[in-house]
Amino acid sequence: MKVNTTLAQIGNRRDSTGAISFPVYYSATFSHPALGESTGFDYSRSGNPTRQVLEQAIAQLEGGVGGFAFSSGMAAITTLLALFKSGDHLIVTEDLYGGTFRLLNDVFCNYGLEVSYVDTSDLDGVREVIRASSKAILCETPTNPLLRVADIRSLSELARSKNLLCIIDNTFMTPILQRPLELGADIVIHSATKFIGGHNDVVAGLVAVKDEQLAERIGYLQNAMGGVLGPQDSWLLIRSLKTLGLRVAAQETNAKVLAHWLTTQPLVKKVYYPGLLEHPGHSVQKSQAEGFGGMISFELKTLELIPKVLRQVKTISFAESLGGVESLITYPWTQTHADLPIQTRERLGINDCLLRLSVGIEDVQDLIDDLAQAIGGEDNAQG
Ligand SMILES: Cc1ncc(COP(=O)(O)O)c(C=O)c1O
Repeated sequence: MKVNTTLAQIGNRRDSTGAISFPVYYSATFSHPALGESTGFDYSRSGNPTRQVLEQAIAQLEGGVGGFAFSSGMAAITTLLALFKSGDHLIVTEDLYGGTFRLLNDVFCNYGLEVSYVDTSDLDGVREVIRASSKAILCETPTNPLLRVADIRSLSELARSKNLLCIIDNTFMTPILQRPLELGADIVIHSATKFIGGHNDVVAGLVAVKDEQLAERIGYLQNAMGGVLGPQDSWLLIRSLKTLGLRVAAQETNAKVLAHWLTTQPLVKKVYYPGLLEHPGHSVQKSQAEGFGGMISFELKTLELIPKVLRQVKTISFAESLGGVESLITYPWTQTHADLPIQTRERLGINDCLLRLSVGIEDVQDLIDDLAQAIGGEDNAQG
């Protein structure tokens, strides 16, 4: 079955009523037929039928043996970090989502977890920081917000040779464009709040795992820690997944046009989009993914333009998320990446002139016109 068929059919006729849309099982607990017997469901933290359909779907889409749904992307990452213990060392992408950095640097450091932040697109740099206590590589690719590309095959190979887990945050790509487990990774994470949810109406996290033993451990932690996704939000994600292929394709088509247009704008200094030939990660991206996604970052020439653009965008919303059908613009300096130390942000290029654009499914000409009038004033409105 092709992926769009799999997506459209999620949950269809899965219960005894023949319902096309899988029901929302609002039940905290389930009765037992007899002592020692179970219908397969006992208590909704441990398992809920609606959540199970979603969890099986993400496992199938990512090519894994197990899937898990959490109340947010951060709840998913928190649960995964409980795989490790005090004294363990992780190698983590340096320009990763600020919330993941905050969790590692302000929370898990108090429990003795040690972290080295590196450019995961530089394999030698990753190799150099591996220690005897290293247990995993946690990598975002493409990164947020600079869209640096790590070679998942090589990272996974390196991880395997050193007995480390390779964990990939696949939020920016979705399984439509990139399937890290098939490239050798062990665990995939999604902030399903983003492209998978796709409508800026649900906060959720998903995990898919390649190996049975690991799946069993993560299932245990999910139940023990309790950050599960509720049945209504699980249903919303099932509904969202049905159109994931269509949405991601439309978002990428728009993003390609916008990225090229941005490169021609005199007030734009730099454009980061892996689909541009000059992007340093372009060829690796092409070799491991089926596309380049709907995220673009760009640097304006002067700081004074930033408040003007954020005030003047009309179709595009100035808001802090990504991946939805509505285009959003974000200022990483004070929003998503404010938790990264200033020196780190500056060294990486997350500077105060950088904007991140999450491209939606609107007509691309309307998006160009909106950015043109916001960046350049009314004179530039025809783009
Ligand atoms: C790449 C990435 N991973 C994880 C997260 C955290 O997900 P959530 O906001 O759903 O908790 C985000 C949120 O922006 C993200 O962009």
